[in-house]
Amino acid sequence: MRILLVASAFNSLTQRVHTELRGLGHRVGVELALGDDLLRARVAQFGPDLILAPMLTTAIPDDIWSTYTVLIVHPGPKGDRGPSSLDWAIHEDAAEWGVTVLQAVDEMDAGPIWASEPFPVASCGKSELYRNEVADAAVRAVLLAVARFADPEFVPEPLDYRRPDVYGRLRPYHAQEYRRIDWSADDTATVLRKLRSADSQPGVLDELFGQQFFLHGGHYEDRLRGHPGTVIATRDRAICRATVDGAVWLPQLRPRRTPGGPATFKQPATDALGPDLLAGVPDIPVTPFEAVTRDTWSELRYYEEGEVGYLEFAFAGGAMSTDQCRRLLAAYQQACRRPVDVLVLGPARDFFSNGIHLNVIEAADDPAEESWRNINAMDDLVEAILTTTDKVVIAALAGNAAAGGVMLALAADEVWVRESAVLNPHYRLMGLHGSEYWTYTLPRRVGIDQADRLTRETLPVGARRAAELGLVDRVTGGDAAEFRAWVRQEAESLAAAPELTDRLVTKKQRRAADEAAKPLSAYRDYELAQMRQNFYGENEPYHQLRRNFVHKVRPQVTPTHLLA
Ligand code: COA
Repeated sequence: MRILLVASAFNSLTQRVHTELRGLGHRVGVELALGDDLLRARVAQFGPDLILAPMLTTAIPDDIWSTYTVLIVHPGPKGDRGPSSLDWAIHEDAAEWGVTVLQAVDEMDAGPIWASEPFPVASCGKSELYRNEVADAAVRAVLLAVARFADPEFVPEPLDYRRPDVYGRLRPYHAQEYRRIDWSADDTATVLRKLRSADSQPGVLDELFGQQFFLHGGHYEDRLRGHPGTVIATRDRAICRATVDGAVWLPQLRPRRTPGGPATFKQPATDALGPDLLAGVPDIPVTPFEAVTRDTWSELRYYEEGEVGYLEFAFAGGAMSTDQCRRLLAAYQQACRRPVDVLVLGPARDFFSNGIHLNVIEAADDPAEESWRNINAMDDLVEAILTTTDKVVIAALAGNAAAGGVMLALAADEVWVRESAVLNPHYRLMGLHGSEYWTYTLPRRVGIDQADRLTRETLPVGARRAAELGLVDRVTGGDAAEFRAWVRQEAESLAAAPELTDRLVTKKQRRAADEAAKPLSAYRDYELAQMRQNFYGENEPYHQLRRNFVHKVRPQVTPTHLLA
């Protein structure tokens, strides 16, 4: 089938649908919704059998939906309508929600229903929910709808509020008036719900030290207490704020744009506030070992089960700044000193990594210099993994990874991936050659030609396809919790296997042979020479592309690599 995906952005869900439909053999094109005439022209040129909108915030023109079947993915159960479905679900503490695929008609979200799938609402931020439970339910619903479209007998169900399974309703835009936190009255659970329903966009508008900020992210704190509303601690660039019955951690802030002032973007909270405002606020660190015994915010956690060590890292948006790379490296080195033979790396849920932290770089006084520091810190981390010869290291990807984040995973001996994950093993869209020793790891896994194709075509790769290519080693289905349980079981059998000792000997020999053939430093020097040119050279696109990414500047036309 020829399927045209129309989307407001080529975001995670659109990428996932793209990989799934291509995996089924469909010819899939993508058109970003950048204007009705551009869309009309693309539809005429592509000649779709079906138009599918995985993530669309604007309406499809009526001449298109009256000529073609246009199916819209709506992140709400049957009957739910409006632009803020997930925000309401989290705000109202729904235990279960749904994704519905409905046909575009005159009235927004009121068309006939082609498929609807329920999902449990995990207690996490909206964007994490979107990339996990919502994405999985959406893919199930889309695949069902596409199969039904191919069935001439199928008749979609008209929206009928009298039906018992139609429990959604029309809800308004979730404006800041619903999100506002009353620090003198809202308990911690309410504060967290408000923060989570606003994550990652638009954030909760609030005041800190007399200035207006949007608050992004929200995590529970088990011990610290203080006067409600005050900032009582900092940790790893996040701030902790007291509530009436506890406290919450806020990792990121975005200053409210002043009229006529420059655009603002999310930054680590202490960077956004600056040291003067935080003078006197204590920094209260927690070690990765201690964090697992607490219910507090920590980007790093380390624990052991059986003969296996698990180093979990979870960075907002998967972005890893210089500091974050260094902290992860320190935790990795500590984990390497533990008496375990198998070490599993990766967050329990969501993004594995998306490479260097473009927002922190954008905010730096000298972005080229900060880019250089960041990529070197990332390379130090990757090098430590590549040169670990006394343990089997597993990268466990419960969620997506991109650019340097994919290459970070490839440094491990084995890469195990949840079926739902989407990988973007390329840097070109950010105008970068890339480092993280990818010129060593990627061709060894997929061959030179495929490495060249993956980095040049810049398309997302689904987990199953990644395994076929040899980019990753093992793939399994299920949700994030099932994936973790599977990883645990497989890692334990690996640790218990009699051939483990031989395997470690072979690993050491292979590393020594590789080093003799071409030292790791030569790969790094070569890559960093290219990166130096990207960061400091003239007429390099990187700085503008990064600025556009951080400020969410939309392209004028659909990028050519998305035109099937
Ligand atoms: N630096 C800073 N922020 C990043 C980031 C990075 N490397 N990668 C992702 N993010 C942020 C996004 O800005 C977004 O922030 P928001 O919550 O304020 O909207 C959030 O993480 C989620 O990313 P988003 O782009 O919405 O997710 P997606 O799943 O739709 O797309 C990617 C994922 C990876 C394709 C896209 O984020 C991307 O291209 N990232 C940059 C990768 C890169 O070039 N890294 C640098 C070279 S190593």
